[in-house]
Amino acid sequence: MKILVINGPNLNLLGKREPGIYGGKCLEEINSALVALAAGNGAQLEFFQSNAEGAIVDAIQEAAGRFAGIIINPAAYTHTSIAIRDAISAVALPAVEVHLSNVYSREKFRHKSLIAPVAIGQIAGFGPTGYELALLGLLRYLQAGSSIG
Ligand code: DQA
Repeated sequence: MKILVINGPNLNLLGKREPGIYGGKCLEEINSALVALAAGNGAQLEFFQSNAEGAIVDAIQEAAGRFAGIIINPAAYTHTSIAIRDAISAVALPAVEVHLSNVYSREKFRHKSLIAPVAIGQIAGFGPTGYELALLGLLRYLQAGSSIG
Protein backbone atom coordinates (compact mmCIF):
# COMPACT_ATOMS: atom_id res chain seq x y z
CA MET A 1 0.00 0.00 0.00
CA LYS A 2 1.51 3.32 -1.07
CA ILE A 3 0.91 6.55 0.84
CA LEU A 4 1.96 10.05 -0.22
CA VAL A 5 3.14 12.40 2.53
CA ILE A 6 2.88 16.08 1.61
CA ASN A 7 4.34 18.96 3.59
CA GLY A 8 3.59 22.56 2.74
CA PRO A 9 5.38 25.88 3.04
CA ASN A 10 8.15 26.49 5.57
CA LEU A 11 8.11 22.90 6.81
CA ASN A 12 11.47 22.46 5.04
CA LEU A 13 12.77 24.69 7.86
CA LEU A 14 11.68 22.37 10.68
CA GLY A 15 14.32 22.05 13.36
CA LYS A 16 15.37 25.68 12.89
CA ARG A 17 11.94 27.28 12.60
CA GLU A 18 10.34 28.38 15.91
CA PRO A 19 11.45 25.21 17.76
CA GLY A 20 9.33 26.18 20.78
CA ILE A 21 6.25 25.70 18.58
CA TYR A 22 7.32 23.13 16.00
CA GLY A 23 10.00 21.15 17.89
CA GLY A 24 13.67 20.46 17.23
CA LYS A 25 13.40 17.69 14.62
CA CYS A 26 14.06 18.41 10.96
CA LEU A 27 11.74 17.08 8.24
CA GLU A 28 14.22 14.35 7.21
CA GLU A 29 14.28 12.96 10.77
CA ILE A 30 10.48 13.00 10.96
CA ASN A 31 10.26 11.30 7.55
CA SER A 32 12.73 8.55 8.38
CA ALA A 33 10.86 7.62 11.59
CA LEU A 34 7.72 7.44 9.46
CA VAL A 35 9.38 5.18 6.88
CA ALA A 36 10.27 2.71 9.64
CA LEU A 37 6.70 2.71 10.97
CA ALA A 38 5.30 2.29 7.46
CA ALA A 39 7.62 -0.66 6.72
CA GLY A 40 6.47 -2.40 9.91
CA ASN A 41 2.88 -1.97 8.76
CA GLY A 42 3.30 -3.11 5.16
CA ALA A 43 3.16 0.36 3.61
CA GLN A 44 5.52 2.36 1.40
CA LEU A 45 5.81 6.10 1.58
CA GLU A 46 6.72 8.85 -0.85
CA PHE A 47 7.46 12.36 0.38
CA PHE A 48 6.78 15.72 -1.22
CA GLN A 49 7.49 19.14 0.23
CA SER A 50 6.88 22.45 -1.49
CA ASN A 51 6.51 26.07 -0.59
CA ALA A 52 4.33 26.61 -3.67
CA GLU A 53 0.56 26.10 -3.65
CA GLY A 54 0.37 25.08 -7.32
CA ALA A 55 3.09 22.45 -6.88
CA ILE A 56 1.11 20.91 -4.03
CA VAL A 57 -2.04 20.91 -6.20
CA ASP A 58 -0.02 19.15 -8.96
CA ALA A 59 1.30 16.54 -6.49
CA ILE A 60 -2.23 15.78 -5.28
CA GLN A 61 -3.55 15.47 -8.85
CA GLU A 62 -0.66 13.16 -9.79
CA ALA A 63 -1.34 10.96 -6.76
CA ALA A 64 -4.58 9.68 -8.30
CA GLY A 65 -4.17 6.04 -9.29
CA ARG A 66 -0.67 5.85 -7.78
CA PHE A 67 -1.37 6.10 -4.06
CA ALA A 68 -3.99 4.64 -1.72
CA GLY A 69 -4.09 7.76 0.44
CA ILE A 70 -2.48 11.03 1.43
CA ILE A 71 -1.10 12.46 4.66
CA ILE A 72 -0.87 16.24 4.36
CA ASN A 73 0.37 19.07 6.51
CA PRO A 74 -0.69 21.97 4.31
CA ALA A 75 0.96 24.43 6.78
CA ALA A 76 -0.26 28.02 6.20
CA TYR A 77 -2.25 26.91 3.12
CA THR A 78 -4.55 25.06 5.54
CA HIS A 79 -6.14 28.38 6.33
CA THR A 80 -6.28 29.86 2.83
CA SER A 81 -6.18 27.31 0.02
CA ILE A 82 -9.40 26.49 -1.80
CA ALA A 83 -7.16 25.08 -4.58
CA ILE A 84 -5.62 22.41 -2.31
CA ARG A 85 -9.02 21.59 -0.86
CA ASP A 86 -10.51 21.20 -4.36
CA ALA A 87 -7.59 19.01 -5.48
CA ILE A 88 -8.18 16.64 -2.55
CA SER A 89 -11.88 16.39 -3.36
CA ALA A 90 -11.13 16.00 -7.06
CA VAL A 91 -8.86 12.96 -6.65
CA ALA A 92 -11.15 11.43 -4.03
CA LEU A 93 -8.24 9.84 -2.16
CA PRO A 94 -8.57 9.54 1.62
CA ALA A 95 -6.46 12.32 3.15
CA VAL A 96 -5.45 12.90 6.76
CA GLU A 97 -4.59 16.46 7.80
CA VAL A 98 -1.70 16.86 10.24
CA HIS A 99 -0.43 19.82 12.24
CA LEU A 100 2.56 19.69 14.53
CA SER A 101 1.17 22.42 16.77
CA ASN A 102 -2.27 22.63 18.33
CA VAL A 103 -3.63 25.19 15.89
CA TYR A 104 -6.72 25.66 18.09
CA SER A 105 -4.67 27.01 20.99
CA ARG A 106 -2.95 29.56 18.73
CA GLU A 107 -4.04 32.67 16.78
CA LYS A 108 -7.67 32.79 15.64
CA PHE A 109 -6.72 32.70 11.94
CA ARG A 110 -5.29 29.20 12.51
CA HIS A 111 -8.59 27.87 13.89
CA LYS A 112 -10.15 27.65 10.43
CA SER A 113 -9.10 24.81 8.14
CA LEU A 114 -10.35 24.77 4.56
CA ILE A 115 -8.92 21.26 4.24
CA ALA A 116 -10.63 19.57 7.22
CA PRO A 117 -14.04 19.15 5.49
CA VAL A 118 -12.46 17.08 2.71
CA ALA A 119 -10.13 15.09 4.99
CA ILE A 120 -11.13 11.84 6.66
CA GLY A 121 -9.61 13.19 9.89
CA GLN A 122 -7.29 15.72 11.44
CA ILE A 123 -4.49 15.43 14.01
CA ALA A 124 -3.05 18.52 15.68
CA GLY A 125 -0.81 19.22 18.63
CA PHE A 126 1.26 16.04 18.97
CA GLY A 127 4.37 17.26 17.16
CA PRO A 128 6.05 14.71 14.85
CA THR A 129 4.05 11.90 16.50
CA GLY A 130 1.05 13.34 14.66
CA TYR A 131 2.39 11.98 11.36
CA GLU A 132 2.69 8.51 12.91
CA LEU A 133 -0.85 8.70 14.28
CA ALA A 134 -2.06 9.84 10.86
CA LEU A 135 -0.32 6.93 9.15
CA LEU A 136 -1.76 4.35 11.55
CA GLY A 137 -5.23 5.89 11.27
CA LEU A 138 -5.09 6.03 7.47
CA LEU A 139 -3.86 2.43 7.16
CA ARG A 140 -6.57 1.22 9.53
CA TYR A 141 -9.16 3.14 7.49
CA LEU A 142 -7.91 1.61 4.22
CA GLN A 143 -7.74 -1.89 5.71
CA ALA A 144 -11.33 -1.51 6.92
CA GLY A 145 -12.39 -0.88 3.30
CA SER A 146 -12.44 2.92 3.60
CA SER A 147 -14.67 3.11 6.63
CA ILE A 148 -14.16 4.10 10.25
CA GLY A 149 -15.08 0.55 11.23
C1 DQA B 1 1.22 24.08 10.96
C2 DQA B 1 0.24 25.12 11.55
C3 DQA B 1 -0.04 26.24 10.55
O1 DQA B 1 -0.93 27.18 11.11
C4 DQA B 1 1.25 26.95 10.21
O2 DQA B 1 1.03 27.94 9.22
C5 DQA B 1 2.34 26.02 9.79
C6 DQA B 1 2.49 24.73 10.47
C7 DQA B 1 1.61 23.01 11.99
O3 DQA B 1 2.13 21.98 11.57
O4 DQA B 1 1.42 23.20 13.20
O5 DQA B 1 3.17 26.36 8.95
O6 DQA B 1 0.56 23.43 9.88
